[in-house]
Amino acid sequence: MNRPVMEGLRLNVPAYVKHARLVEWVARIAALTEAAEVYWCDGSEAEYQRLTEQLVAAGTLMKLDPARRPRSFLARSDPGDVARVEDRTFICSRRQEDAGPTNNWMDPAEMRALLETGRPDGTPALFKGAMRGRTMYVVPFSMGPLGSHISHIGVELTDSPYVAVSMRVMTRMGRGALDVLGADGSFVPCVHTVGAPLASGQKDVAWPCNKTKYIVHYPETREIWSYGSGYGGNALLGKKCFALRIASTMGRDQGWLAEHMLILGVTSPQGRKYHVAAAFPSACGKTNFSMLVPPAGYEGWKVTTIGDDIAWIKPHADGRLYAINPEAGYFGVAPGTNRHTNPNCMDSLQSDVIFTNVALTDDGDVWWEGMTDAPPAHLVDWQGKDWTPAIARETGAKAAHPNARFTVASTRNPVLDHQWDDPNGVPIDAFVFGGRRSTTVPLVAEARSWAEGVYMAATMGSETTAAQAGATGVVRRDPFAMLPFMGYHMSDYFQHWLDLGSRLEREGATLPRIYCVNWFRKGADGRFVWPGYGENMRVLEWILGRLEGKAGGEPNAFGISPRYDDLRWDCLPFTREQFASVIGIDKAAWRQELALHDELFRQLAWHLPAELPATKAHIEERLAA
Ligand code: OXD
Ligand code: MN
Repeated sequence: MNRPVMEGLRLNVPAYVKHARLVEWVARIAALTEAAEVYWCDGSEAEYQRLTEQLVAAGTLMKLDPARRPRSFLARSDPGDVARVEDRTFICSRRQEDAGPTNNWMDPAEMRALLETGRPDGTPALFKGAMRGRTMYVVPFSMGPLGSHISHIGVELTDSPYVAVSMRVMTRMGRGALDVLGADGSFVPCVHTVGAPLASGQKDVAWPCNKTKYIVHYPETREIWSYGSGYGGNALLGKKCFALRIASTMGRDQGWLAEHMLILGVTSPQGRKYHVAAAFPSACGKTNFSMLVPPAGYEGWKVTTIGDDIAWIKPHADGRLYAINPEAGYFGVAPGTNRHTNPNCMDSLQSDVIFTNVALTDDGDVWWEGMTDAPPAHLVDWQGKDWTPAIARETGAKAAHPNARFTVASTRNPVLDHQWDDPNGVPIDAFVFGGRRSTTVPLVAEARSWAEGVYMAATMGSETTAAQAGATGVVRRDPFAMLPFMGYHMSDYFQHWLDLGSRLEREGATLPRIYCVNWFRKGADGRFVWPGYGENMRVLEWILGRLEGKAGGEPNAFGISPRYDDLRWDCLPFTREQFASVIGIDKAAWRQELALHDELFRQLAWHLPAELPATKAHIEERLAA
C-alpha cells in the first residue's frame, strides 16, 4: 500500500495498517487541522505508560500516592469544561424532521461549512488549523468484544492525549481493532479537537479547550465531529456520540437496538441465571444497580455486571434478544459513591483509575462529597484551591465538582460477569425502565404487553434536581432515558421498538418482559420511603419470580404490581403502610400525569405510533372504572 508523506508531515503509518481508505482519511484530517505530528495508538501497556507520563509532565494529570491509589491519576479540567453540552450537540440529518423536536439540528451542508470547508462569507472553518502545534492521535477502537457480530469499529482522531488514554480504558482500543478492520472493513470516523492550536513556542495549558463547542453527528454518513471540549461525554466519542446517537440510527436501519441501559446478570441460590437490561436517566443510579450487593436475607444470590451505561441488543437466530456492553470501562459519577451505596464500585476504584475533578487529600489520595460521613480537615478542591469544611460552610464550595468522574476498566470490577466479553452477548430476559419520581409512579409495575411496556418507557420522566439549571422538582420527560442521546426522531424510535416486538412475536419469539420501576417515592416528611440500593434486590427477585410464573401480582391502571405479600421481607423492617405509599396508584395524580403524557405526545405528534395514544386510552378507562 502507498504510504503517503504529505508536504512536511509524515503520517507515520505503521506497517500493520492495511486499510487504504483509513490512511487517506487520516491524511485528509491531518491536512485540514494542520497537526504537527501523527501518532497511531497501538493500545499497548507501554504506550499507556508513556502517554500518562507525558500527561503528568504537561500538568494535565497528577500522579496519586502510589501506596494509597496505585497507578492512578487526577485531572482537573478547565472550570468551563465539566459536563456534556446538550445545547451544543447537533444531529445533522438531511431533513430536519428526521432529527425531531428533541434534538438540535443544522443543515449538514451548513455545518460542514462551519466545521470543515469555511463559510461563503470567508469565515474559516473551525477545524482548519485547529491542531496546529499538537500531535494528532489515531485511536482505533472496537465498541464491543473484538470481532463480535454485534460489535462495530470506530476510529477517533484527536489532539488530546487525555482522550487517547481514556479511550484505552473505555474501549477495546488499538491494534486489535485495526486487525478486525482489515483492508476494507467499515468504521465510524470520529474527529475530535480541543480547539486550542498552539503557535510556535507558545506554552500549553494543563486542560486546553475552547469556549466555542460543537458536538456534531451526521447520521446518514455515520460521522462524528467534536470541537472545543476535552470532557468525557463530548470527547470520548465512542460513548454517547457513537454507541448511542450514531448507533441508534444504525440500529433503526439494521433492525437492532442501541440503548442507554446497564446489563446485569442475576443468579439465584439454585443456580438459575437471568439477564436484565435497565434504562435510567443520567445520575439515577445505573452504576449502583449494575453492581448491586444482595442484602441480608439474600444469601446465595449473586448480581454480576455486564455493563453500567450502554447496551447494544440484537435479535439472534434462536429468536431471543442478545445484548453486549459496547464499552470496556466505566466513566461514572464519583460524588455520592461510597461503601454503602456501591461497595463494588469503591473496590473497583482502588487502583488504575483516572479521576477527573475530584478533590485531592493531603496524603495524595482522592475524596468527593458523600465518600465518607465526615470530610477530611483539609483538601485541595477540583479547581486547585484550598478547601476545608469551614470554607464549605461559609461559601458552599464543593470539594469535588458534582459531575466529577472516574474512568476505570471493567476488569477492575470484583463482580464482573464472566460473560461480559462474550462475543455472542447474553440473552435478555427483562427490560426495566426507571425514572426519578417522588410521587405517582409505583415502585414496580409489569407491562401486560410489549406495547404497554413501550408506553411505560416512552413516558418515563425524572424530576430535576438542584444540580440542574431551572426550577427543581419539575418533571422532565426522558423517553427510554434516551432524550439527550437519540440520533433520530423520537417517534420513529418508538415505532422501531414496536416494530421489532411485533416482528419477533410473529416469528414466535419469547420477548423479554418489560417493567417500570421507581425507587424515589417520598413520604409526607419529604424523605425517600424505599431504602433502595441493595434492597432493590427484592424487586429484582419479584421480576424473576414473574418470569418463572411463580410471583403473584395485582393489575392496576398502569400495569401489574406486587401486593405486600408478593415480595420477600426477610431482614428488612418495611411496613404494609410504607409499602402502600410506594406502590399505590393515586387516581387524581394519574389524571394529571396522563395530561403530561398528552403534552409529550403533542410534541412528538409527527409519526407518533397509534399504539401509544391507544394505550393511554386503556389506562384512562381503567382509572375511570
Ligand atoms: C453519562 C450520562 O455520562 O448519562 O453516562 O450522562
Ligand atoms: Mn449514561
